[in-house]
Amino acid sequence: MISIAEAIRAALLTGEPRAKVMATRALARAWRCGGLAWDFAVGMPERPTWPAELELLPPNRMPRRGKGGSLRGAIALWHSLAHIEFAAIDLALDMAGRFGSRMGRAFVGDFLAVAADEAMHFALIERKLRALGSRYGALPAHDGLWEAAFGTRHDVAARLAVVPMVLEARGLDVTPAMRDRVLALGDRQGARILQRILDDEIRHVAAGTQHFVTECDCQGKVPEIHWKMLVKRHFRGALKPPFNDSARLAAGLSRDFYAGVA
Ligand SMILES: [Fe+2]
Ligand SMILES: [Fe+2]
Repeated sequence: MISIAEAIRAALLTGEPRAKVMATRALARAWRCGGLAWDFAVGMPERPTWPAELELLPPNRMPRRGKGGSLRGAIALWHSLAHIEFAAIDLALDMAGRFGSRMGRAFVGDFLAVAADEAMHFALIERKLRALGSRYGALPAHDGLWEAAFGTRHDVAARLAVVPMVLEARGLDVTPAMRDRVLALGDRQGARILQRILDDEIRHVAAGTQHFVTECDCQGKVPEIHWKMLVKRHFRGALKPPFNDSARLAAGLSRDFYAGVA
């Protein structure tokens, strides 16, 4: 029987987008059905494999995304979302593979389910891009998304603080307005995709927050205070309002966490 870590590592090192989606969904299914051995002897790669043709640019060199009004604008918008979801697959896989042996079965199950959601989100967006006459890899993408993972590779609390509780929580803040704008442009199917992503992301942030709080409890730390310290140390960007307080609260992220840091 193949081990969990081997299966995760193989999915991380799959660069072709559709193949990564398939590998991720197959591995989440194998986990649910008891088809993977609980063994983490194999380490995770420093970097996942991304499509060879994808040009990565530093965030400050990315062309502006625009509002999606023209076909070009729509392609740019959905391409940037495709990249976020594609990277999110690997962020969730790496979380499960790197910290799973220490954190236990519920943790692994949660983050493999997140990875499968991200694979579905990517697949929906990739289909949308094709319908617009483009594809993932046709435009440059920003290279900042793996930095947060790399900088927190030795500390599960720091990883949880930055990835689900900052980056994914940021998605909760910006997605409703994006959905409304897409709908106002007459794209009902696009708006439905964004609504589905928003609903799923609330669960992702909730899972991350819950494991963070548990980990803080084990370390004898106050979650809100420890989170602020970790974010200051490991997250280079700013936490920018407006916050989607109701979605954040639904995910267990009360204002006590982010009040005073923005
Ligand atoms: Fe997602
Ligand atoms: Fe997510």
